[in-house]
Order: sequence, then C-alpha cells, then structure tokens
Amino acid sequence: MAPSAIPTPAPSAAPSSDAELLQFLQQLEAPLKNLPQLAKDFEATFHDLALTSTSQFLPTPVRVLPSGDETGQFLALDLGGTNLRVGVVELFGRSSLDTGGERLCIPTQGSWNIPEHLKSSTAEDLFHWVSERIRDVLRETSTTAEVMELGITFSFPMEQTSHTSALLMPMGKGFTFTNTNDLAALLTTAYAQTSAAGEPAIKIVSITNDSVATLLSAAYAHTTPHSKTAAGIIAGTGTNATCMCPIGKLHPAKKPSGGNAGGILLNTEWSINGTAPPLQPYVTDWDRHLDARNEKPGFQPLEEMVGGRYLGELVRLVGLDVFTQHSLPAGMYHEYGVDTKLCGDVEAASTDSDALALLADYFSADGGWGLGLETAAVFKRVCTTISTRAAALVAAATVGVLGVNDELEDGVDIVVGYTGTILEKYPGFKERCEGFMREIVRRMRGSEEGATVTLVEARDGGILGAAVLAAMVKGGST
Ligand code: GLC
Repeated sequence: MAPSAIPTPAPSAAPSSDAELLQFLQQLEAPLKNLPQLAKDFEATFHDLALTSTSQFLPTPVRVLPSGDETGQFLALDLGGTNLRVGVVELFGRSSLDTGGERLCIPTQGSWNIPEHLKSSTAEDLFHWVSERIRDVLRETSTTAEVMELGITFSFPMEQTSHTSALLMPMGKGFTFTNTNDLAALLTTAYAQTSAAGEPAIKIVSITNDSVATLLSAAYAHTTPHSKTAAGIIAGTGTNATCMCPIGKLHPAKKPSGGNAGGILLNTEWSINGTAPPLQPYVTDWDRHLDARNEKPGFQPLEEMVGGRYLGELVRLVGLDVFTQHSLPAGMYHEYGVDTKLCGDVEAASTDSDALALLADYFSADGGWGLGLETAAVFKRVCTTISTRAAALVAAATVGVLGVNDELEDGVDIVVGYTGTILEKYPGFKERCEGFMREIVRRMRGSEEGATVTLVEARDGGILGAAVLAAMVKGGST
C-alpha cells in the first residue's frame, strides 16, 4: 500500500512510565490469557460458518489427499497478494525415492513483484501481465510440447464448481477490482492475445486456493505411515487455512452431489468477517483505527491482526501512542511507514544497540531514529508483543480448524503444512505458533500424553501444490 501522510490517531494517554507502557501492552497480550477457550470459540464459529456462510468455508472440488505417487510435468502458477511465481514442476512420485532419486524438481521458475498499479486496474490488465510472465518462463524451458498443462494457485477467495472453473469473489490485500470474473476465461483469453505463433499453448487442468495448495504439497512431501497431514495454514501477506470437512456438516448449497458420505476440502477464508465473534473481546483501538483506514473496512478482521501486510502498521500505531514524549522520524507519521520486515529484524537483533542501528538505518531518509537505546528497546518490545499476539491467534484458529474434522480425537500425530512469509521468515514466529498450538492441545486434554501437532513447511507450496493437484486431476484421483 502506498504510504500517505495522515493525521495521527487521537493518542490515548501517553505512557510516561513503565506502568503505562505495560498497560498498553497488556491490551495486546489479552488473547494469550485463555488460548484453549479462544480455540474452542474459533471451532464453534467455524462449525457455524461451514453450516451457514456463503463467503467462508467454501467447498473445493477436492475430496481426497494426494497419495504421494503422483507424477508428471506441469506448468504451475501461483498468484499471491504480493508476488507471482511461475515454474515448471516435475513430479516423480514416492517410488523415485527408492532408487535414490528426488520426489520432485522445479527446473525452471521465475518470481515477480506484482506491480501496485495492476491491483487497482482491471482483471484483464492483471492477467495480460501474468501471461507475459508465463511466456518468460516458457522461453527458458527446454520443451517441445505444443501444449503445456497448467495448475493454478490463486491466493484469493473464489467460488469453484469444478477444477477448471473459478469465479473470483471480492478480493482483499489491496486488490480493488470487484466484478465476478471467471479466472480460467480471463487467463486463457489473455494468454491467447499475448502469445506468439510457435509458442506452446496452455491448457488449464486445475485451479485452487493457496491454502489448499499448501496442504496438498505438504501431504505429497511429508505424510508418513505414522502421521496425518490434516490442515494447511498460511500467514503471509494474508492468512487462510484449509481442512477436510465431513460433508454432513455443510450447508446444503455447499454439498457436492452424491449424499453425505466422506469429506471435502474447504477453503476456509478464515480471515473474513464471519470469524469476528471470537476476536471481538481482543480488538484494541489500534486494530479499530487500522481497520477504519483500510480500503475494505470490516472485510478481514483476522488478517488485520496477523497478516504481514498489517503487523508493521500495528507497530507504528502503537508506537505513536507509546512515544508521545518524543519527536519521531517522519516515516512514523506515514500510513504503512513501518515495514513488517523491519519489525522482524528489530526483534531478532541481539542487543539494543543493534536494534537502534536498524532503526537508524531504516529511517535514515527521515533523519534517523535519533532517540537513544531505551526507545529501541521499547520499539522491540512492541514488535514482540504484536507478533506474539499474531502467533497466538494463528495457533488458536488452527486448533479450531482441526476440530472441524475432529482431527485431534484419534491419537495420530498431526502435521499442519504451512507457507507464507510470516510463518517462513519472521524470526521465531513459527516456533511461537507451534508452541502455542501444543500448549492449547495439552491444556484441552489436561494431559501431556497423546498425539503431537507439528508445523511443517510446505516449501514452494504454491507452485508445488498446483502441480500436485494437476497430477491428481489427470490421474482421476480427486
Ligand atoms: C487472503 C485471501 C485468501 C488467501 C490468503 C492467504 O486472506 O482471501 O484467499 O488464501 O489471503 O494468501
């Protein structure tokens, strides 16, 4: 989001003492006080959303997880909130491991930042640009194929009735085009318009949300005879999760034909506002201020508390209230003037003077931080408090999602696949999240015994999951 100067929020009382700072931070620590209850509240809300909501807990056409034996070569595309990735993915299947080979490889790939202007342009313009990037990757690929089969991962809500049909629903993350567009038609038309004679054609085989791609790629790469990959979660620019849901627990309009037997993978879109009730007691004035300034106020309350797009902005807003006694660098008065990456770096700094050096460097164009060691230490504390709240909320929501399919009941070790820059790169975030999940499960059970819950990175999950699903569709196993 382009930073723009805004009036600062009306400051609450400025903390002139440690006691006041503590009081500020305690508001943000409130969710940590009773995480098992929060997880139960999430679970109850999620059951309700599966049964009633038409914008969340969306059915996908996937009814089973991959076996790990899927093979084939696919073009894979992952359109996220910040980046586009395109790659050629080769799946060799589990048996390749027996002969000392790899399970998969990605011989060619490219990654690009999505230009800001395309987020508020038309869907046609965005897909024209996407098509050009597909051509860039295909030019690097030594293929003689006339047609490349394509798996697509898309990091936005969509309505899906088959593997190749997906209608875009209202999007967050700064994307503002609103008409309900058919993703496959948009891409096919744009690619036909941009590609030249002699270049391979593309054939869309599968489309899925990035949460589903995360679960499928984790299940492809990590399931063992002793564990079950039961959910996929994302904390990156945005946040989301997928889980298997018994058909009987769904709204009739969401049920596939053929009765109530079996389960279906849901794109939960857990960040959207049906998830608000369990969060309500923990929403602070800083969250309310951030939401009121968002281009879609009220749309994704959970995302605004845990998404990488927002953590830096929350630190900035809290900082404005904490540092009222000081004059701050101009960047602190600019909306989105604090990057989430800065917060992670400051948190990881081993000394206060390292943290101060990072702040001075980041704000160098605004004359540096210039406030001394103590303020760097307080800034670091604010970052830790906000990222810890985010990790706790993701953990509680994940345990809630596992409850949708009673995954914690049958004593098998549970694997939760994850992707997203916050879980992958924010220092200590994944460890805190996993620690909270385990603590919640232990306290719910009232015992140290029982199966474990482990977070496993679904590396390259977006493009890998797209290829795994394409292989499943081709093998007729979805
Ligand atoms: C947003 C989108 C969702 C996506 C998530 C993670 O919340 O609505 O579809 O999965 O971000 O990228």
